[in-house]
Amino acid sequence: MKQKIIDLIASNVEGLNAEEISALIEIPPKPELGDFAFPCFRLAKTMRKAPQMIAADIKEAIGDVDFLQEISVQGAYLNFFIKKDIFVKSMVEAASSENFGGSTIGAGKTICIDYSSPNVAKNFHVGHLRTTIIGNSLYKIYSKLGYDVKRINHLGDWGTQFGKLIVAYKAWGNEEAVKKDGVGELMKLYVKFHDEAKNNPALDDEARAWFVKMEQGDEEALKIWQWFKDISLIEYKRTYDLLGMDFDYYLGESFYRDKTDDVVNRLTSANLLTESEGAKIVDLEAYDMAPCLILKNDGSSIYATRDLAAIFYRKETYNFVKCLYVTGQEQKLHFAQVFKVVELLGNDWAKDQLVHIPYGLVSLEGAKLSTRSGNIIYAEDILLEAISKIKEIIEEKNPELPDKDETAKKIGVGAVLFNDLYNQRIKDVSFKWEKLLNFDGETGPYVQYTYARCSSILRKLENYDENAPIDYSLITDADSIDLLKEISRFPQVVIDASEKYEPSQVARFAVAVAQSFNKFYNANRINIEDEALKNARVSLVKLTRKTIKDAMLLLGIECPEQM
Ligand code: ARG
Repeated sequence: MKQKIIDLIASNVEGLNAEEISALIEIPPKPELGDFAFPCFRLAKTMRKAPQMIAADIKEAIGDVDFLQEISVQGAYLNFFIKKDIFVKSMVEAASSENFGGSTIGAGKTICIDYSSPNVAKNFHVGHLRTTIIGNSLYKIYSKLGYDVKRINHLGDWGTQFGKLIVAYKAWGNEEAVKKDGVGELMKLYVKFHDEAKNNPALDDEARAWFVKMEQGDEEALKIWQWFKDISLIEYKRTYDLLGMDFDYYLGESFYRDKTDDVVNRLTSANLLTESEGAKIVDLEAYDMAPCLILKNDGSSIYATRDLAAIFYRKETYNFVKCLYVTGQEQKLHFAQVFKVVELLGNDWAKDQLVHIPYGLVSLEGAKLSTRSGNIIYAEDILLEAISKIKEIIEEKNPELPDKDETAKKIGVGAVLFNDLYNQRIKDVSFKWEKLLNFDGETGPYVQYTYARCSSILRKLENYDENAPIDYSLITDADSIDLLKEISRFPQVVIDASEKYEPSQVARFAVAVAQSFNKFYNANRINIEDEALKNARVSLVKLTRKTIKDAMLLLGIECPEQM
């Protein structure tokens, strides 16, 4: 329908092409203002006429059109009212298509998303939960648009901290304890190292020496390191399983350890490396940034060096059109430095293809969480707690529900995901159980509940002929039309979400559709005698159900059939 309006305007207005018209067309906030509106302010400049007059002239030029009820001029706007049955039919048909909300704009293009990426030997904490949830949603959104998305887990599995851990393990650790307590024990050893090193700086030298050994391929060092990594991965995978998420590649920092020499060579030939207190850096003063450290004075690589190596590796291996990095905002400078260095090496694409996607902090009832304060919160525990709280609610309210455990998992995990994705990602996220598990707020459970309601309506239908033709002219009430209009926004919402890297747009859309549906459902009985009307209304229930399901999947959330 929008395209038809665009064509209509394009053939009656000079000086604007279809693309410009498309960008100007608005969906009016109120139904009294029509289905589409076209503002004439911009034309006023070129035509040197009052916008009201221009609007009236365009209306005149367009004349009568078969699919239009009316064109009205209100101020500087042309408001288009589409004949209801035609509008309804076109919306229902568009929304019924298999890949509604999706597109093929990404076909043949690859996007890398670097997300989750916990640090080996440390717990998978709530901060990593955010990158995991946001990254996974972006993966779903870009896939829906036809992109080939590579999900990359850039594990923090290399660096001096492993030298420290090896020293601590050799001094105070034992195999049994590590086998028993896994990451928990490794974290204790790490804390112990820091406590001891305060009074005994020689420990730091030892740690550095062990990391140098690791970089040189020392067998003993690598064996302990690999063991720590395996233990950590087992724990991380438990969390990924709970979330129902996966990756295409687990290529951590260690994967790039033999590729950092190449980075140093490139920088050297480009004359970008300078020496500073024995270390090698790239001076970024001209760009108002602190220097990017490349090699420490003992010659070992650092986080940034490995990120540089990863960028060149990914560009060569996947030929991405974009590489996205989902991390907390405290890494803003790090990525700005790294991206600038890539650009300085003569890679102009770095400017728009490398994108840092920061997000806000997580707080539990307002308190900032940190692994250092002893207030250690595992993501896994948060998820398990959400599931168990939902299980209690189910036992209390609906003990007969089939698949209780599976359902509690979908709702509990969904609630945490939804709470994370509902606001702009840069905003802080707080965990307030009463709020995020509430079945009628702007929450995951509320949207899932609406989905289950649709499923239940469809299950309980009597005398319903799936294949009977639908008479769209029967759908005339404002609630039904509002619902359809809401649903029709889906394709644009997905595109907006992808362009702004904002899954929140999809989450908000899901709530809007659910609210709109519940209003429609309050006003319209479905399982009625009048078969034609029933068929028409059922078609809206089906569309709502399908759209909510697909939108929630873009957030990584599954909807149970019953709850
Ligand atoms: N391991 C890092 C952390 O936990 C995140 C890694 C992000 N990705 C990257 N390519 N640097 O903070």
